[in-house]
Amino acid sequence: MATDSSNGNGHQQTTTKKPPSPSPLRFSKFFQSNMRILVTGGAGFIGSHLVDRLMENEKNEVIVADNYFTGSKDNLQKWIGHPRFELIRHDVTEPLLIEVDQIYHLACPASPIFYKYNPVKTIKTNVIGTLNMLGLAKRVGARILLTSTSEVYGDPLVHPQPESYWGNVNPIGVRSCYDEGKRVAETLMFDYHRQHGIEIRIARIFNTYGPRMNIDDGRVVSNFIAQALRGEPLTVQCPGTQTRSFCYVSDLVDGLIRLMEGPSTGPINLGNPGEFTMIELAETVKELINPSVEIKMVENTPDDPRQRKPDITKAKELLGWEPKVKLRDGLPLMEENFRLRLGRDKKIGTKDGNKLDEAT
Ligand SMILES: NC(=O)c1ccc[n+]([C@@H]2O[C@H](COP(=O)([O-])OP(=O)(O)OC[C@H]3O[C@@H](n4cnc5c(N)ncnc54)[C@H](O)[C@@H]3O)[C@@H](O)[C@H]2O)c1
Repeated sequence: MATDSSNGNGHQQTTTKKPPSPSPLRFSKFFQSNMRILVTGGAGFIGSHLVDRLMENEKNEVIVADNYFTGSKDNLQKWIGHPRFELIRHDVTEPLLIEVDQIYHLACPASPIFYKYNPVKTIKTNVIGTLNMLGLAKRVGARILLTSTSEVYGDPLVHPQPESYWGNVNPIGVRSCYDEGKRVAETLMFDYHRQHGIEIRIARIFNTYGPRMNIDDGRVVSNFIAQALRGEPLTVQCPGTQTRSFCYVSDLVDGLIRLMEGPSTGPINLGNPGEFTMIELAETVKELINPSVEIKMVENTPDDPRQRKPDITKAKELLGWEPKVKLRDGLPLMEENFRLRLGRDKKIGTKDGNKLDEAT
């Protein structure tokens, strides 16, 4: 039985209600013992990397449900047609009736440009989408993991943020469809857990970066890399001293799988505690990718948090997890992918970044 900290104060509790039994198919004599795993939002950035990792295990059958709002079939190209892989065009705001053992529930636009584009749809995705996936988990006895976010801490008054911190969130701001949407999604997860015994896992993900992020999606790392490759100024939102921590996607995926497989419900912070100001990040991208671009200060967006850094004590203790990839090692991996997609040839010049000439 999972241990949880459902009152948010870090008190360990043991749930009393037993989880629902898995589908009778599980006990059928002829049933193949493969693990059937649903990944909602699996055509997106993190989802597609998660699918890659899950598909490495020959005992896994992976089903992706995605409406392609921000994701793309291209991200899953190599698996289309594979006998252990299925791709369904599906919007999670509608019920989905399939037989699965585990659900990784990622479906939700994650970048401000996309989640603010249709805020009502974003909150529906978080609330109705999560209700639908919990309903599915309840019906088939599946374990469900929600990818929540560090945004649940809002503009935090505690630094770094432990899971026991309840946050400082504006309920009526332009970001609230996402922040408050995820907070309600977390509430729903724990209510289904307490009331129906559903096996839940909640990851609170901090800024993650890597190949396959949407270009020009307004997220700071993808913005800076695309700007550097196009030779455009790196636009830093004022004052530039606001901090973020950046986790490379392979580390994050490792944490998600450990959480799903382990006994703890979470919420558990997954992120890299290395903290950078936006100016430091711009300077690193400039140095590594294109030293000739300028750094330009621009106006900030409302409700932009000033500081964000995960306390990952719980992830270390309960999952034996901590990130391995340093920002300086991860950025070049992402650069390579962005060069390909932007049609920019490989850089030529010195490796230490003193002189870089574009071959395009
Ligand atoms: N990337 C980060 O830094 C970060 C940080 C915190 C939390 N997260 C969470 O991780 C998850 C994945 O984020 P990502 O960065 O891969 O974003 P992404 O936008 O690349 O992926 C989201 C996927 O969900 C799909 N989707 C959106 N709405 C849907 C709907 N109604 N029905 C079905 N599919 C839908 C999109 O098409 C896309 O494929 C999200 O839940 C996000 O909130 C990400």
